[in-house]
Amino acid sequence: MASKGKIKVLILGSGGREHALLKVCLRSPRVSQVCVAPGNGGMAMEAECLPVDLTKPAEVVALVQRTGSQFVIVGPEVPLAHGVVDALESAGIPAYGPLASGARLEASKAFSKDFLFRHKIPTAAAETFRQLDPAIAYVRQQSLPIVIKASGLAAGKGVVIATTHAEAEEALRSMMETKIFGSSGDEVIIEEFMQGEEASIMLMVCGEEYLMLPPSQDHKRVGEGDTGLNTGGMGAYAPTTVVTPEVERRLREEIIIPTLRGLKADGIDYRGTLYVGIMVTSTGPRVVEFNVRFGDPECQVLMPMLETDPIEIMEAIAAGTFKSSSVKLCAGSTIIVVLAAGGYPGDIRKGDVIEFPKDLPAGVDIVHSGTQKLPDGRIVTSGGRVLGVVAHGATLQEAVKKAYSVVPKIRFEGCHYRRDIGYRQLKRDAGL
Ligand SMILES: Nc1ncnc2c1ncn2[C@@H]1O[C@H](COP(=O)(O)OP(=O)(O)O)[C@@H](O)[C@H]1O
Ligand SMILES: [Mg+2]
Repeated sequence: MASKGKIKVLILGSGGREHALLKVCLRSPRVSQVCVAPGNGGMAMEAECLPVDLTKPAEVVALVQRTGSQFVIVGPEVPLAHGVVDALESAGIPAYGPLASGARLEASKAFSKDFLFRHKIPTAAAETFRQLDPAIAYVRQQSLPIVIKASGLAAGKGVVIATTHAEAEEALRSMMETKIFGSSGDEVIIEEFMQGEEASIMLMVCGEEYLMLPPSQDHKRVGEGDTGLNTGGMGAYAPTTVVTPEVERRLREEIIIPTLRGLKADGIDYRGTLYVGIMVTSTGPRVVEFNVRFGDPECQVLMPMLETDPIEIMEAIAAGTFKSSSVKLCAGSTIIVVLAAGGYPGDIRKGDVIEFPKDLPAGVDIVHSGTQKLPDGRIVTSGGRVLGVVAHGATLQEAVKKAYSVVPKIRFEGCHYRRDIGYRQLKRDAGL
């Protein structure tokens, strides 16, 4: 790998995950130049940002050719589901991310549920419906709580955990009749509720070869102690010991290996990130869902935990030559605390000027999500999740302390964040 010439990289996406991937490129000895499409305010300070419609594969191919990029890293799921990697492959451009055939694992929950059942991988019992009346008749017979999911992509808003039958029916009507998620609600899954603690398992996959990054946990609720509305994620940390060595053994044997074998058996040549959301239940780990890209904000904590250059890994995966035995991980823990805009996750304030600290302690970094760079150079808020403070420490406690020493020094009107990121693990570490 080291003998090859350096490459020009294009990153697709505009969130914190993509800013973390940009930082990886900027540190990589493999990368000579990097640009981003479409990018955000923080990325604009470090690289050229170009406009693009990520749902149009031909537009992406044209952009790659115009910029002379030699390698593409696809951040979010939408371009993957639209076949951007298929189009790049046809044009002879290597890219990190699965083909549309693999991206269906995320783009259709009905498809992934069927995949899990066919390959006998532990997950919640479920039924899929295309018609409202049979769905309502079925849900009335189920015990509570019950989980209702729109099958298609819904930007993390398509799942309702109903605690009454009336609530379950209302969710079915809004998805299948009112069509609040458009065609993403054409198919709906009614699923058994699994009790347990969740973990995010990020795999970098090359066919049946894979690297498992340290298990992480994100914090989806807006309020401390996991209360209030769901968000895109208010923070994350890794590693988490909710995945004990025994859970990890079962995860690999009962979930990961059968999944990768199943993909191969189904004729899907999977290369890219496979995010396995699991519930650690009293009967072992079970799959909540698959995503086909890095989680955001999990990506921001996992990239700094790779001692091996992530670009080298991604290039080898795209080329089909990856061997996980060559990869080294860092010791210690990493955390991200997300700073959100006023009103988030509801109607948000935008356009507020952000003040940054003059310098950062060692091991701390700021990653931008919803920001914009004004022509005068000032950075303003432009999205729900605005920024994240990423900190690495020898222990989680040290990482938490470092992150929260910086968070209050970032200021903008309406800013809010959780003060308890990593609390479950801190309790476990303290033996509570
Ligand atoms: N069967 C289930 N049992 C318990 N909780 C669930 C179940 N399915 C989903 N959830 C909860 O809902 C969240 C969102 O569901 P998920 O399937 O991950 O969809 P998405 O991320 O696309 O919104 C999960 O992270 C989990 O907290
Ligand atoms: Mg999810």
